[in-house]
Amino acid sequence: MGTASTFTLLLACAPFVLEARQPVRARHAMVVTREPHATDAGVAVLRAGGNAVDAAVAVGFALAVTHPAAGNLGGGGFMLIRFADGRATFLDFRERAPAAASRDMYLGPDGKPTRDSIEGWRAAAVPGTVRGLEYAARKYGSKPWAELLAPAIRLAREGFPVSWGLAQSLRQSKLLARFSESRRIFQRDGRFFEPGERLVQPELAATLERIARHGADEFYEGETARRLAAAMRENGGLITVEDLKAYRVIEREPLRGRYRGLEILTAPPPSSGGVGILQMLGVLEGTGFERYGAGSAAAIHWMAEAMRRFFADRSEYLGDPDYTRVPVRGLLDPRYLAQLRSSIDPERATPSERLRPGNPRQYESAETTHYSIVDPQGNAVAVTYTLNGGYGSGVTVPGLGFLLNNEMDDFAAKPGFPNYYGLVQGEANAIAPGKRPLSSMTPTIVLRDGRLYMVVGSPGGPRIITTVLQVIVNVVDFGMNIQEATDWPRFHHQWLPDKLYLEPGISPDTRALLAARGFAIEVTRSMGEVAAVLAEGGWLHGAADSRVEGKAAGF
Ligand code: DON
Repeated sequence: MGTASTFTLLLACAPFVLEARQPVRARHAMVVTREPHATDAGVAVLRAGGNAVDAAVAVGFALAVTHPAAGNLGGGGFMLIRFADGRATFLDFRERAPAAASRDMYLGPDGKPTRDSIEGWRAAAVPGTVRGLEYAARKYGSKPWAELLAPAIRLAREGFPVSWGLAQSLRQSKLLARFSESRRIFQRDGRFFEPGERLVQPELAATLERIARHGADEFYEGETARRLAAAMRENGGLITVEDLKAYRVIEREPLRGRYRGLEILTAPPPSSGGVGILQMLGVLEGTGFERYGAGSAAAIHWMAEAMRRFFADRSEYLGDPDYTRVPVRGLLDPRYLAQLRSSIDPERATPSERLRPGNPRQYESAETTHYSIVDPQGNAVAVTYTLNGGYGSGVTVPGLGFLLNNEMDDFAAKPGFPNYYGLVQGEANAIAPGKRPLSSMTPTIVLRDGRLYMVVGSPGGPRIITTVLQVIVNVVDFGMNIQEATDWPRFHHQWLPDKLYLEPGISPDTRALLAARGFAIEVTRSMGEVAAVLAEGGWLHGAADSRVEGKAAGF
């Protein structure tokens, strides 16, 4: 008893005790990325008077050099922007299926999906990144284009020291080893990079220099386009000069919703992510799950059941809205959310085989919605972009120095069969020429009292959606600081396979409790890599995920 009260007393007298890892704090600006050189490139642009969009463009190009597993010229993504004056927009630079793509293109003679959607030349969809970054810079940036590419060009030309994590990742990639140009550049034909050695990429530098000089047209209509299309022809790929030339960025309205009085701006279709977090938050609000505390079996149970139900709906209803009608209103209608909520047994896991996608269409109507935008504090940008799998299709276009995506695998190669992420998807996401594959990328901005509160996003395929959900819940419901919320052990359920994935940080006794409730448990390492900023009390709090070698920095 004496010890306990002394301890309590000590805490009471020590107001400066910080109980969790702290975020990086700055007054004016904050950049959080997966890789320190890219963060520094973004901070430099901001210090030179560029705005958040300028910085996002510079970081996008820098990551294409320093984080080759996902940073890219040969992929695509989404940029969510909330401007200082309260306006917001969403740039969709997702890849598209080439014109020669067809519904059954990845089915083998036995009718089963082959690995062609996952690796090699045929896995690549038409890249959107370069057009996307140019569109953002032209319309919303303030700095000269070439200035935004300069840090990336320097990093590619002069090289940069390979980090511990990058050295491991390059060495371990069997995919890179399978394609000679990738193996030469990223694995030095077997003389693997040691941490601290410099990775110099002259071909990529030359490509970036041409893009700096001639703009995105160089990539889509110029020398880069011609060489890319020629290499595709030689290697059985589908992307043509016409496909590249026809690529367009689509500017969309961000998806908007509310949770506990906060306003959430997030990714609309062709991402499933925004619908996902809004549906799951909507189901959770009012259940009282938060009373059980972060990491408790009961809280995880509620959240996992919300996840399971969303992913069942995702399999049926989500796809490219330009090709298929996505019942967004129905999926988020309070009456539909109440129905999903009431189907959850708080004591027993619902077996996925007993759960089919719901019927949100009964709540759908054709009216347009409008949300009012409130007081500004500063510009905020959230970008998620990707090659899909790590190092994408594994293919580096000879002489051009960049990797191509394998985004075709985000389609349902065979509706009803699992893809690379084990996601079962339906007709709404079948392959069609020009169509964008359904995504889980969820760049999200949260507002409180109309002011910027949180900027958050993550990689991780379907785990992106549940990761973003958990960071929001960790802050809003469990009172964590943004770094703690980012680092906290995560879990994931995606309906099929019927498994609850837990990071090792979730204790064995919690695991046992969840198993007793009927969950099939699988422990897996490392879900997501969050980069988040929280604006509170006149400060910006930046959090790079402890799971990887990212960096938050500001001034
Ligand atoms: O758009 C999507 O949902 C996927 N292509 C994202 C891939 C991803 O996050 C890979 N990272 N682990």
